[in-house]
Amino acid sequence: MIRAQVRGVGHYLPDRCVDNEWFTTFLDTSDEWIRSRSGIERRHFAAEGQTTSDLAIRAARAALDDAGLVPDDIDAIVLATSTPDLTFPATATIVQAGLGMTRGFAYDVQAVCAGFVYALSNANALIVSGQVRRVLVIGAETFSRIMNWDDRTTCVLFGDGAGALVLEAAEGDGTVADRGILATDLHSDGRHREILQVSGGVSSSQTTGHLMMAGKEVFRHAVEKLATSTIDVMEKAGVTADDIDRVVPHQANVRIITGTARKLGLPMEKIVVTVQDHGNTSAASIPLAMSVARQTGQLRDGELVVTEAIGGGLAWGAVLLRW
Ligand code: UT7
Repeated sequence: MIRAQVRGVGHYLPDRCVDNEWFTTFLDTSDEWIRSRSGIERRHFAAEGQTTSDLAIRAARAALDDAGLVPDDIDAIVLATSTPDLTFPATATIVQAGLGMTRGFAYDVQAVCAGFVYALSNANALIVSGQVRRVLVIGAETFSRIMNWDDRTTCVLFGDGAGALVLEAAEGDGTVADRGILATDLHSDGRHREILQVSGGVSSSQTTGHLMMAGKEVFRHAVEKLATSTIDVMEKAGVTADDIDRVVPHQANVRIITGTARKLGLPMEKIVVTVQDHGNTSAASIPLAMSVARQTGQLRDGELVVTEAIGGGLAWGAVLLRW
């Protein structure tokens, strides 16, 4: 059977890195509060004029280099973002042109912080259905553009960045020993949309709006739903927590990451944690964490990896793959 295998990974972070102390210059907050409640120590912010597509192009080039491929080797770009350059066209098409890719097709997926697991699942479907051979799957965000800088409960938590994977079709035996995506699990429940949303948009207010979050409520949903989705994706593939070599969770809050790991009975040595360095980069957080983990030797060929995320919608899900 056809499997969608990872052939390359890369990331890009904007140059400007801001520590927690910076926020104390204009907000009633502290490094101690931000660290202890979220695990975040620093985050990167895009420069003035630097757009989501700029970050995405840099991450995509790094992933293509890692794969030893050029843009025209790619059949499709699936880009997860909630902070597009423009209302339309899709940021993915801006990335396509920026890479100099003259063939194939490109589109965006919008599932906020769950965007990358949605995009991975979508790209997997394109590949296993035989529609395309190679997909560039990108998560890229400039959440600094939708922050309310007077709201200490949200603006200290988010950062900008991008990460990308190259997925490629390859023959597998149809067993969990295969490399590539082995199972996916997606959910959303729009009844909870108001606990994490942006206060404007094209059709409602004709403004961009600012991010608003009922943090405690999102937190409660997160641990429970991430654990359930991770169990479900493992069950679909016929594996258990003991078989998992590495977890690459969405990086929103270290307490969500540890709480979910505890619920799953997974030791922290198996969990990739980058939230201290990146903050919450929404759809970019998982491919960013994967790329960093590859560079630090924490993610090795042949490892059984589970990745999970939750965000606005609420939308959540998990993907199981062998790297
Ligand atoms: O990626 C998408 C999904 N998003 C998430 O997963 C985020 C989920 N939520 C969270 O990560 C956590 O709920 C937060 C980090 C947002 C907040 O942590 P918490 O432990 O739930 O704190 P809290 O909201 O209950 O706030 C505790 C106190 C409050 O003061 P009172 O009401 O107890 O007097 C807040 O006003 O901390 C106060 N507070 C702050 N204090 C200093 C809130 N933000 C800050 C701040 N600095 N930046």
